[in-house]
Amino acid sequence: MKKVFFLLSLTAALSVSAKNEVTVNVHADKPGATINKNIYGQFSEHLGTCIYGGLWVGPDSKISNTNGYRNDVLNALKELEVPVMRWPGGCYADEYHWMDGIGPKEDRPVMVNNNWGGIVEDNSFGTHEFLNLCELIGCEPYISLNVGSGSVEEAAKWIEYMNAADGPMAKLRKQNGREEPWHVKYIGIGNEAWGCGGNMLPEYYSDIFRRYQTYCRDFNGTQLFKIASGATDYDYEWTEVLMKKVGSMMNAVSLHYYTVSGWVGPKKPALDFTEEDFYWCLGKCLGIEPVIQKHLAIMSKYDPEHKTPLLVDEWGTWWEPEPGTQLYQQSTMRDALVASLSLDVFHKYCDRIQMTNIAQVANVLQSMILTKDDKMVLTPTYWIFDMYKPHMDATYIPTDLEGVEVKLTPNERYAANPDETATRPLPLFSSTASKKNGKLHISMSNVKLNEAQSVTVKLDGMKAKKVTGKILTSGKASDYNTFEKPDKIKLADFDKARIDKKTGDLILEIPAASIVTLEVE
Ligand code: AHR
Repeated sequence: MKKVFFLLSLTAALSVSAKNEVTVNVHADKPGATINKNIYGQFSEHLGTCIYGGLWVGPDSKISNTNGYRNDVLNALKELEVPVMRWPGGCYADEYHWMDGIGPKEDRPVMVNNNWGGIVEDNSFGTHEFLNLCELIGCEPYISLNVGSGSVEEAAKWIEYMNAADGPMAKLRKQNGREEPWHVKYIGIGNEAWGCGGNMLPEYYSDIFRRYQTYCRDFNGTQLFKIASGATDYDYEWTEVLMKKVGSMMNAVSLHYYTVSGWVGPKKPALDFTEEDFYWCLGKCLGIEPVIQKHLAIMSKYDPEHKTPLLVDEWGTWWEPEPGTQLYQQSTMRDALVASLSLDVFHKYCDRIQMTNIAQVANVLQSMILTKDDKMVLTPTYWIFDMYKPHMDATYIPTDLEGVEVKLTPNERYAANPDETATRPLPLFSSTASKKNGKLHISMSNVKLNEAQSVTVKLDGMKAKKVTGKILTSGKASDYNTFEKPDKIKLADFDKARIDKKTGDLILEIPAASIVTLEVE
């Protein structure tokens, strides 16, 4: 493994051209699979102020809202065309009892959110509130069932409540004001079953999955898509056992991978980082690619026809939380690069990766949105998701790179892990491309902290007639949006790419730590 990494980085390092120009070869003549729009999925958990204060303020709030949902957040999420949202957790899901969150608010029991600060949860945001939110945004719901501390009966009845047209659970739903079923398709059977979801062994969880899935019924024409709680990071045995024991009883297996800033030792701050921290973090982010490759290779052994996709249903940066909060962190241009680099990897495996859910949508970890009272900020990560929208449901177009410099960063924080190398190699440029409705979109990240990158884009199988673009850039990689200056970083038009008349190549320069998406017609 170490040898492979070394050779890869050496090859890339040797191919640096004298004038340090990167060439992006875009193979428009070799289209790949469709980039499932669900790769742009979100995750919302009862954690900190993700739900309460982030998405939901209640109908009586002075903050502008529609039936309790913040209007600013609602509009921002509609604008993003969120395809799917996971709820109610995370770790919270395995302590959540859905019946506590239906019916008149004053009758709903309270509970203690043991996973996240021991705060008292009043259950005012429950099944109706979540599923109606999905309808308002126009996204598919993805429900995580309580397997850790719940029961099969409870799980089965929840699905009946959400999806059945008739029967006792449908009657109860109607009494609670919802006539039509919601047609929920994506069902997660537990979360992190190896940890907060019950500390199970893979063999035991496989049996549990088989049992639960038996009673997760299709109602009313809605065919469930049953997702197994997958491995964390480097736990390949988990995937092996699941594939062997559960096989085709599951529709997908999940994976969690965070760009955790401290595993051995404390987590690092979101804002105050050195050059080494910057490169290490982006190297850790790209460490997801070999992890994905290994899980996919195991899955292929048991599923050679690739019928079972891998869903990365939690990913993103995890910094030291701001004091007195539950996982609330700011988001800089460094986080934006983690988003673009991760999405580039997900696109590359889009024949197998059918959904991902960044953690989390508001006020928790690598959020799209931060809120404070009646104020809202869109993070640089939000703008990456906005910039990458054209790739949703587009045809993947492979790209390869020449002339990319590689940075090697000491990796002692992770060296204890057998999968890790003593120095972490990081290519300082990334690209991805797709085609939809006759238009080609090429996204490119300049990962260099302090240096602009000259780029030539060569198009195979397509002649460029017109090029336009968007850019996300800022003076420093540590820049971020605040409630006082919410528009410091936002997506802007980029008109600096030109078509070389002789060669037809696209020529541009990308500022340091910035991301560009070109649209080519
Ligand atoms: O996203 C925060 C937590 O990270 C989730 O609750 C859990 O699934 C994971 O460990």
